[in-house]
Amino acid sequence: MNSTLRESGQDRQIRELSEFLAIPSVSALPAHAADCRRAAEWLRDHLHQLGCPTVDMLEGPGHPVVWGEGPQVPGKPTLLIYGHYDVQPPDPLDEWISPPFSPTVRDGKLYARGASDDKGQVFCLLKAYQAVLDRGGRPPLNVHFIFEGEEECGGTVIYELLKREPERTRADAALVCDMSYYAPGVPAVYTALRGLCYAEISVRTLQRDLHSGTYGGVAPNAIETLARILCALKSETGEIRIPGLYEAVEPPTQAELDTWKRLPFDREGFIRSEVTGKVLTGLQDRTVFERVWALPTFEIHGIRGGFVGEGAKTVIPAQATAKVSLRLVPGNQVQEVGRALKRAVAQAAPKWADVEVNLLHGGDPVQVDVSTPAFEVLDEAFESVTGRKAVQVRAGGSIPIVPELGLAGAPVILTGIGLPDDGLHSPNEKLDLAQLWSGVEIFSRFFRLFAEKGGSARAYSSSGEARFTGPE
Ligand code: BES
Ligand code: MN
Repeated sequence: MNSTLRESGQDRQIRELSEFLAIPSVSALPAHAADCRRAAEWLRDHLHQLGCPTVDMLEGPGHPVVWGEGPQVPGKPTLLIYGHYDVQPPDPLDEWISPPFSPTVRDGKLYARGASDDKGQVFCLLKAYQAVLDRGGRPPLNVHFIFEGEEECGGTVIYELLKREPERTRADAALVCDMSYYAPGVPAVYTALRGLCYAEISVRTLQRDLHSGTYGGVAPNAIETLARILCALKSETGEIRIPGLYEAVEPPTQAELDTWKRLPFDREGFIRSEVTGKVLTGLQDRTVFERVWALPTFEIHGIRGGFVGEGAKTVIPAQATAKVSLRLVPGNQVQEVGRALKRAVAQAAPKWADVEVNLLHGGDPVQVDVSTPAFEVLDEAFESVTGRKAVQVRAGGSIPIVPELGLAGAPVILTGIGLPDDGLHSPNEKLDLAQLWSGVEIFSRFFRLFAEKGGSARAYSSSGEARFTGPE
């Protein structure tokens, strides 16, 4: 192909994706509800442009789900494509080199909130689909698209939709492209996602804030009390002090541990360029992979209370709140962990403080059997474009709706075209454009191969049992 033509095609795609990324669809912030809707509409319009005869905005108590169906192709398998159009809040804003919602290309990378998580990856799948349409606009297989706008904030619209209409998950496979390569040049499929239990812990020790000179020395300080409770929940050596949490964990199999041992891992580089700290914390007798993939965590996300404005104010705070979450691994159950967290906080709280735990949202961990034929087809696609099959790893992150996508028996493929240093949820999130272009080739190849081979495989019987082996 003429390379100037090709280049202009890429420029157009960068422009299109930039339009999508410029919409600040921050699902967690109520002020951005209209932006979330605009991002959904952008997808709706795009699916129309791709020739989908059915495109719906499905409403619920939050941001809409966008549903699309490609033209029906009788006798061919059906692929369900999942993605999310919402993004995390962009703060701290002053750390962005270019503003989060002004997509900017630097050095072959497109910088914007959502560039990798997940708008850029959704865009990649749309372009891959476009690339396999024939002259009449017909795809080689049946494709159903389901895009949600509440993945990052724990909303329930997609969950309620699939509870109500589980037939939407009837497919020969579900494809979730919201993760990254294991390393540059090393594609990955994911055998597990961690679950999540997100909570707010609120402490009140006084009826009102007090002068810290007049009452300092006798009045109970809410932030200090909260800090002590938080410290009681996790030891300095990284052990979470919530009874039953570790006992429930199903350890990884020997095969997994062996695979992980063989993965290339540059510990110093990981500390320096990904973690960006000086050390790795947590249970020192466990490997890094075990700590980020196969063990529960307890993290504090933010603390509110007292005086945090410019300058100095001498006050004893009456009230303080911490946002915290636990990541859960196979064996842990979100309901049970929520109850155990409440008990542990109540135990750590002094009698004279009013302490509340408010569970905001969560989801169970999931495990995926990657031995079904859909994964062979994906490997073939990865190999033909990158020269390598996917490594099998776990993810430390969570995608709460994944168990539901597999409920009708479709194997759920968890993969992606991001890179480990994309900066998800961080300032200066980016997508390498080379990953986008090769991603379009990989998934076009996958669609074609799946159209040929996908439906014929034994493992795709639509009555097949659910392939999720995550905890009940
Ligand atoms: N794409 C991520 C999940 C992810 C991160 C998978 C890293 C693999 C590796 C997803 O969009 C995400 O960030 N999810 C949230 C969900 C939560 C808010 C319920 C997460 O994991 O924090
Ligand atoms: Mn994501």
